[in-house]
Amino acid sequence: RRHLISAADLSRDDALLILDTADELAKISERSIKKLPTLRGRTVVNLFFEDSTRTRISFEAAAKRLSADVINFSAKGSSVSKGESLKDTALTLEAMGADAVVIRHGASGAPHRLAGWVRGSVVNAGDGTHEHPTQALLDAFTMRRRLGSLDGRRVTIVGDVLHSRVARSNVLLLATLGAEVTLVAPPTLLPVSVGSWPCAVSYDLDAVLPKSDVVMMLRVQRERMNAAFFPTEREYSRRYGLDRDRVAKMHDDAIVMHPGPMNRGMEIAAEVADSPRSTIVEQVANGVTTRMAVLYLLLGGANLGGEDQ
Ligand code: CP
Repeated sequence: RRHLISAADLSRDDALLILDTADELAKISERSIKKLPTLRGRTVVNLFFEDSTRTRISFEAAAKRLSADVINFSAKGSSVSKGESLKDTALTLEAMGADAVVIRHGASGAPHRLAGWVRGSVVNAGDGTHEHPTQALLDAFTMRRRLGSLDGRRVTIVGDVLHSRVARSNVLLLATLGAEVTLVAPPTLLPVSVGSWPCAVSYDLDAVLPKSDVVMMLRVQRERMNAAFFPTEREYSRRYGLDRDRVAKMHDDAIVMHPGPMNRGMEIAAEVADSPRSTIVEQVANGVTTRMAVLYLLLGGANLGGEDQ
């Protein structure tokens, strides 16, 4: 496989290979080996047309830990402000010798278009409201580390599903891995297509919590929100926010996730985000390992020997 555009492109075997490779990389890193020579001489371009903290930095860290050369491109301060198209930007980067292009873009489908223009591998780092497949992979990796196999695990994803590429990629990947997913959201924050997704839907968070092994809270995406579709922030927190009282309804081993960035006090209470059940910081660390696995597999790196430089 040359590109990673959608979680739907991954078979169960593909997904397990990425997660197993990430496990192997985590073990190497636990042996205090910080850098592997496996992608020496290869070039990874990070092409970010939308803001990012976690994804951008973790792709950069992942590529550098595999000894690839990294070029970081941000639309802000580039010739995009002079009207240069995505295609011309991509061909310019291609001329500089990109073996892989990691792209985040506000338009759903931009990574798919890019894949038709460049020779290297394309990795979707989030496109509009469509998909964020490496987020779903790092989330699955985090769940596996805490809970073991995902077969039959019950995962509840809560909040602004309408605008969430994280939710869509998670639903697709988790279904492939055998988990049972339930979405909980106000009816106005669910996409019309949700009926065809491989998951259940509920409007009652309190009823679903006791049966959940994982509760994944989504960021309310105010920047994409049409005010007419949104209850007041207070009403939203009251019905869909995860606070201490709600967490008390979860079973002892259940975990709380959030992809970040968080609106503390809105979809998740600060004390819940910082509690031992929360995997939010682990998710960030696991993001580096999982993205290393993706780059390694797409670029056909040399064997993972675990030797230091
Ligand atoms: N989870 C996530 O994609 O975060 P960033 O927008 O900071 O990359």
